[in-house]
Amino acid sequence: MVAARPPDAIAFRASEPADRLFVARLAEAAFGHLGPGYGALLGSWIGAPEVASIVVTVGSRPVGLSMLGLYANEGVVRADLLALAVAPGARRLGIGWALLERTIALAERCAQERGARELRLSVAEDNVAARALFARAGFTAAPDEGSTYENGQTALRLRRTLG
Ligand SMILES: CC(C)(COP(=O)(O)OP(=O)(O)OC[C@H]1O[C@@H](n2cnc3c(N)ncnc32)[C@H](O)[C@@H]1OP(=O)(O)O)[C@@H](O)C(=O)NCCC(=O)NCCS
Repeated sequence: MVAARPPDAIAFRASEPADRLFVARLAEAAFGHLGPGYGALLGSWIGAPEVASIVVTVGSRPVGLSMLGLYANEGVVRADLLALAVAPGARRLGIGWALLERTIALAERCAQERGARELRLSVAEDNVAARALFARAGFTAAPDEGSTYENGQTALRLRRTLG
């Protein structure tokens, strides 16, 4: 449980092609400091067969997005949290936590159906907010090799057991 309770009018739905502009703006606001091209990248994942996207709305206004990648390789399904972001004006209201819970529940269902054993993600080392959020949700350091974002920030890999 977290202290902030999300607004009553919060709702979740799958992303739609009409969300592309929202996604592009959110990607720029949330990930633009990591490098160029995140708007186009996240836009290209909308409707991709291996990516499940959740848009969170308050009233009818989209305020957040998560993208869960499910990649099958030689019978093993890998679950990756590709993106999780809340619009700057809607942060610290419990929306990110609610969206993460929803996304983990989706990953858990996929784990049951398709056999994924864990959920992985990348987060910038200096991203205090997201690291606190993910630690709270049970993510721990994964033994993956380190990498860097295009603008040079260190990328940490985190994992959380599913099932
Ligand atoms: C990370 C992010 C999704 C959090 O969304 P949010 O709606 O503000 O988060 P919540 O209000 O639900 O907060 C949940 C918990 O996250 C942590 N958290 C969120 N913002 C924080 C901040 N600025 N500083 C420290 N901890 C923070 C806290 O543990 C918080 O619980 P608390 O409110 O009880 O302290 C949001 O800051 C964001 O979109 N950041 C840019 C994109 C990003 O970094 N995505 C993650 C990597 S893919």
